[in-house]
Amino acid sequence: MLVFAASDKGGTGRSVTSCNIAYHLAQRKSVAYLDFDFGSPTAGAIFEVAKVERGIDGRVGTHSYLNGVASDPRQVDIWQSSSRTHLRTANTRAHRLVLFPGDRGGAEFPNSVERVERCIELFVKLDSEFDVCVVDLSSGRSVAVEMVLKATASTPLRSLAARWLVFHRWTQQHIVAAHSLVFDARGLLEVGKQAGHDQDELLDSIRFVRTAVPNLNSHLATDNAAQATWLRACDEELKKLANRHKLGRSRTLGQTPMEPVLQWREQVISDADVAANIANEATVTAFRELADKLTDNTWWEKL
Ligand SMILES: Nc1ncnc2c1ncn2[C@@H]1O[C@H](COP(=O)(O)OP(=O)(O)OP(=O)(O)O)[C@@H](O)[C@H]1O
Ligand SMILES: [Mg+2]
Repeated sequence: MLVFAASDKGGTGRSVTSCNIAYHLAQRKSVAYLDFDFGSPTAGAIFEVAKVERGIDGRVGTHSYLNGVASDPRQVDIWQSSSRTHLRTANTRAHRLVLFPGDRGGAEFPNSVERVERCIELFVKLDSEFDVCVVDLSSGRSVAVEMVLKATASTPLRSLAARWLVFHRWTQQHIVAAHSLVFDARGLLEVGKQAGHDQDELLDSIRFVRTAVPNLNSHLATDNAAQATWLRACDEELKKLANRHKLGRSRTLGQTPMEPVLQWREQVISDADVAANIANEATVTAFRELADKLTDNTWWEKL
């Protein structure tokens, strides 16, 4: 299965949430994580692999592969390479979790038939090698988005399962932006249609993920009565806005709570972080649930 992680805006939590989802998926399935955020490949930092923190050196990353410079993009085994002790030691019985980093200093590039062809070849190969391939795409209506829409409409990939996660924060601007990434004139559905997708099928393969949603029952939110009342009213308004913009409950796969650890540091949250009382259990639960729902067909039925 191919999973595309997209967002209209930058800084939505797309990469951090996707890495955490990949981490949980890898407890029961083999997972490839492809960094297709060509302007800012940071998945290596989230998995804490120092040598690929901001992408890989030596022109062997995903950019170089797509540009025809590398014959195969370099693979990094997370369980062996992460400097997080917990990731290295606690996952001996887990399935493979392999990162395909972007190139350090890489940049966006124009789309071309050759790049789309190479993208198709890579997805066909990795789909046969891994149960799930998570592809972290550059934000907005990027070259990466257009390339994978063209690739997945092609004959070799048409029949493969592909699912889209569109990440957005729980704010007015993010809700409107996520809507426009999917539904606007230059959005996923229109670009997908031009690439040869059936629009209804494509829409059925898209779900939204709300990130860093404040917990209205936390002490912080309830100690100040005026603030609590304001937050609740605001939350209600956002729910209405989301419904009007077709980002209501039925199209939403799940949400992650505001997590203090992630406000300070981009990382995988493990059970060890919860056991040490550093991270909140609700955060790990949210990531695990997203991973479960991603591969559970009942969450992907026609709406
Ligand atoms: N649930 C959460 N609670 C608090 N902070 C979060 C949460 N999820 C993500 N963050 C933080 O939000 C910031 C942006 O996250 P991230 O880098 O994953 O976003 P992105 O959409 O991939 O951004 P970019 O477009 O720059 O790649 C990071 O500092 C991250 O740790
Ligand atoms: Mg990112």
